[in-house]
Amino acid sequence: MIKPYDALVESDVDLQPYNTLNISIMAHKFAAVKTTTHLKNILAHPQTKENELLILGGGSNILFTDDFDGLVLHVEIGGLEVVKETEKNVWLKIGAGENWHETVRYCVAQGWAGVENLSLIPGTTGAAPIQNIGAYGVELKDVFEELEAVDIATGERRQFSKEDCSFGYRNSIFKNELKGKVIVTEVVLKLSKNPELNTSYGAIQSELEKRGISDPTIRDISDIVIDIRNSKLPNPKETGNAGSFFKNPIVAENIFERIKKHYPEVPGYKMDDDMIKVPAGWLIEEAGWKGKVVGNTGTYRQQALVIVNHGGATGQEILDLAKEIQASVSEQFNIDLVPEVNIIR
Ligand code: EPU
Repeated sequence: MIKPYDALVESDVDLQPYNTLNISIMAHKFAAVKTTTHLKNILAHPQTKENELLILGGGSNILFTDDFDGLVLHVEIGGLEVVKETEKNVWLKIGAGENWHETVRYCVAQGWAGVENLSLIPGTTGAAPIQNIGAYGVELKDVFEELEAVDIATGERRQFSKEDCSFGYRNSIFKNELKGKVIVTEVVLKLSKNPELNTSYGAIQSELEKRGISDPTIRDISDIVIDIRNSKLPNPKETGNAGSFFKNPIVAENIFERIKKHYPEVPGYKMDDDMIKVPAGWLIEEAGWKGKVVGNTGTYRQQALVIVNHGGATGQEILDLAKEIQASVSEQFNIDLVPEVNIIR
């Protein structure tokens, strides 16, 4: 028997607690999804087919610009389970709704290495593969084994290997061909019992030296990453933000050299294909935006790449600021910044 829709979903819910930019907007329909079965029941309901769907994890990479006239599915599927173990590795299956940072700290406490550099990234574990989260020299793809998702059209479970996910810089198949087509329900990570720590990132190295640590543990790295992030990025519980608002642009060498002529100090990191990644934060700071307050919004005083909600900002105000920043970076450097944040119009 088909359940009444009201038993499965709520109506007219304010999404402010569900997005870290703290934007108050209304969702026409909303459901907190606790299990895969619950999810399948919602997807199978005829009324769901009439609604536009939006899948929400921790809401830490999303900008709402208007009320959402469809159905928001807030994925709250939990669970942590070791599914395989060898002398060297552990395969951990994690429910998509598990908080990412708590998952990281659990691994750190167990002595399982691989995710310590990704400490304190806001959001859920299910959202981590969507944009292939990355920080301090490590990306999710480095520890990713496989994931399970539910196909929105058919309601069937689908497995995805690492290759299937087509991971790239802040990118995956789930932001492209499969956008809006599947919902991640479980992620399996392959962690290491014999840590090979990644301390290549300059800020980690200098912090280790400062603390006189020559043989760091997984916990040392995690603690240092937490301290670095706390010093550079605003805590979303205090100041609304969605982390880096734009991606770091990757430009050809000749474009980089052209900028360098006028700005000899421009930072750049060579990629495998000889292209150069330029920190968007530097471009935005150079364009005069760092720490600027514009109405209820602005950029963070310690990190120009982070747009903040100083309180009461609307999504449209934030979008307007983002556009102004894009225009001035484009005018000054002839580089188009692409948002990293998912903008819902
Ligand atoms: N910079 C400035 N001014 C600023 C900010 C940065 O000049 O206001 C320059 C500095 O030269 C600095 C460099 O940019 O050395 C890099 O800055 P940072 O180390 O803060 O890293 P990022 O490139 O701005 C990326 C990720 C972050 C991740 C950090 C650390 C992207 C879009 N962002 O930021 O990820 O935490 O590296 O690995 O790739 C996120 O995705 O939301 C995020 C926070």
